[in-house]
Amino acid sequence: MRSRSIAEVEPFHAIALSRLAWELAGAGQDIIHMEFGQPSTGAPKAAIAAAQRVLATEAMGYWESAPLKSRIARSYADNYSVEVAPEQIMLTCGASPAFVLALSCLFAPGDRVALARPGYVAYRNSLKTLYIEPVEIDCGAAERFQLTADALAALDPAPQGVIVASPANPTGTIIAPDELARVAAVCRARGIAIVSDEIYHGLAFGDPARSMLEVDPHALIVNSFSKYFSMAGWRLGWLVVPPHLVEAARARMGNLYLTPPELAQHAGLVAFECVDELEGHRATYARNRDLLLDALPAMGLSRIAPPDGAFYIYADVGHLTQDSYALCEALLRDTGVATAPGIDFDPVEGHRFVRFSFAVSTPLVEEAIRRMVPWFSALSVRAA
Ligand SMILES: Cc1ncc(COP(=O)(O)O)c(C=O)c1O
Repeated sequence: MRSRSIAEVEPFHAIALSRLAWELAGAGQDIIHMEFGQPSTGAPKAAIAAAQRVLATEAMGYWESAPLKSRIARSYADNYSVEVAPEQIMLTCGASPAFVLALSCLFAPGDRVALARPGYVAYRNSLKTLYIEPVEIDCGAAERFQLTADALAALDPAPQGVIVASPANPTGTIIAPDELARVAAVCRARGIAIVSDEIYHGLAFGDPARSMLEVDPHALIVNSFSKYFSMAGWRLGWLVVPPHLVEAARARMGNLYLTPPELAQHAGLVAFECVDELEGHRATYARNRDLLLDALPAMGLSRIAPPDGAFYIYADVGHLTQDSYALCEALLRDTGVATAPGIDFDPVEGHRFVRFSFAVSTPLVEEAIRRMVPWFSALSVRAA
């Protein structure tokens, strides 16, 4: 008999599309990968050089880098003017295990945790794996697909927790600072614990995103080297826990994951100093965003919330299809442009949305646009 948690965890449909994309590439088709949210640039050069030096000299074992924890702690003072002690930083193998750690420190089976729909699919599935009930809040274009304090205040009964993501995946929208403060105030008043996913911090196109720690010192903060630092394959991230949860988090970390790879920790420390290179990537994403925002209306895709950060555009294609997976597959087969269907992010409305990830080079975005404009125009004519 299959266990309940395994039965309920859904697959990531973008993976199936990506598999098809690689098959088509193997058969000779030229593919542009805009289906996954990962930088195509690789780790900063100095971080790679540091890793090569370490490979030559260190035996490598279970290890937690004290300098890296201190450097991460300092980044909270530098970026958000909040004080975080190095002991509050749990080094993890990316944001994904940091979530499991955070959720297992805060919640028990049967608890209810609110989150925005659309949202990153692993939130819902990590909750379910831990037998925590996801309480999805429908966040539409009017809210720029983001949680609001009013929506949280209206939940009856109050959930035990909430997951906040700003900038968010799949939309790239940021919660404005005053709304973030209101969200924290509602949570304080109603006893709702906050887990804040700040994995896209550093990747904003206007004002930088604010940390939940600025408005709630008890919030648990998830972050990673996968996005801004362009080190997804190095599997390194962190969780910030408040002082009263340090021992609980350390116990879980030791039992579930031990430590992240030593090599990645050495490289991650150096990556913090590679600002020029990393800001260059951000400038590329900003250019790509602008190119897509200019081109999407010509494809008949004007129902979007322009992203404030990250590297995604989530577009409503409901006038063309009620089957976003089929649309993504046809787009891929006909043009070689791989995208992600909205059903990965929203089980209710996602059938009429597509996510474009623009974490690729600008020439590739230009080429994708060149191929997609006539394809979407032809589809619009057929659908009219
Ligand atoms: C919003 C969000 N959180 C967490 C993750 C997981 O990232 P990591 O590679 O750090 O495990 C992703 C990956 O795409 C993401 O988009």
